[in-house]
Amino acid sequence: MVTLSVDASKIEIAAGTNLLAACLQNDIYVPNLCYIEGMDHPPASCRLCFVEIEGKDAPVPACTVEVRHDMAVRTDTPGVRRLQKTALQLLLSVHDVDCKNCPANRNCALQDMAKFLKIALKSKHLDLFLKKSKIDLGHPFLEYYPNRCVLCGRCIYVCRAQQAHTQLTFAKRGFDTVIGFFGNPQSSPPSCDTCRACAEACPVAALLPKP
Ligand code: SF4
Ligand code: SF4
Ligand code: FES
Repeated sequence: MVTLSVDASKIEIAAGTNLLAACLQNDIYVPNLCYIEGMDHPPASCRLCFVEIEGKDAPVPACTVEVRHDMAVRTDTPGVRRLQKTALQLLLSVHDVDCKNCPANRNCALQDMAKFLKIALKSKHLDLFLKKSKIDLGHPFLEYYPNRCVLCGRCIYVCRAQQAHTQLTFAKRGFDTVIGFFGNPQSSPPSCDTCRACAEACPVAALLPKP
């Protein structure tokens, strides 16, 4: 076990624990999207979980750090909050905010983070850029909404690592990046028809089981 301080709290936790997981397990909320507990190599792609660690020159994503004994961590400095607000505002500038018509309404990671960081879901300062394709119905059991997707990769991770499937991948590049389907959805058990792990892992209802 190691002991570290996070803001005003002392935490005792197993050596080697991921710092983001350690904070969340101890009810210290750090905004996050792309990390799933148990990941060996977190992608650190959402750039939301920044914290300051004593002795480091710049904030670091907490999901990329293992706890160390006597570590001193701050999750709530002005610098950290500035980075988190910017990351979330950029995500929302390519997101179709239509909560009333969204199945994730009131159970949505973006809503939770916007409330926590005190920013509006619809920005007055940033232009909104949406993809042309509103929905992809190419999969027999799933529907995909590109303008809700935050490209966190959680669906790809659970499909590959937890279900031993390779049905999902990032497709295209840059602003056009989307989740693409490939392979035979019924090839290996569990078939996508009964699995649905990807849809359950999606924090924003971008991937849903077909009704
Ligand atoms: S994903 Fe969340 S923020 Fe986006 S429309 Fe749905 S409920 Fe609203
Ligand atoms: S479909 Fe959902 S889980 Fe997959 S990358 Fe998009 S937002 Fe993340
Ligand atoms: S949760 Fe750490 S960068 Fe996404």
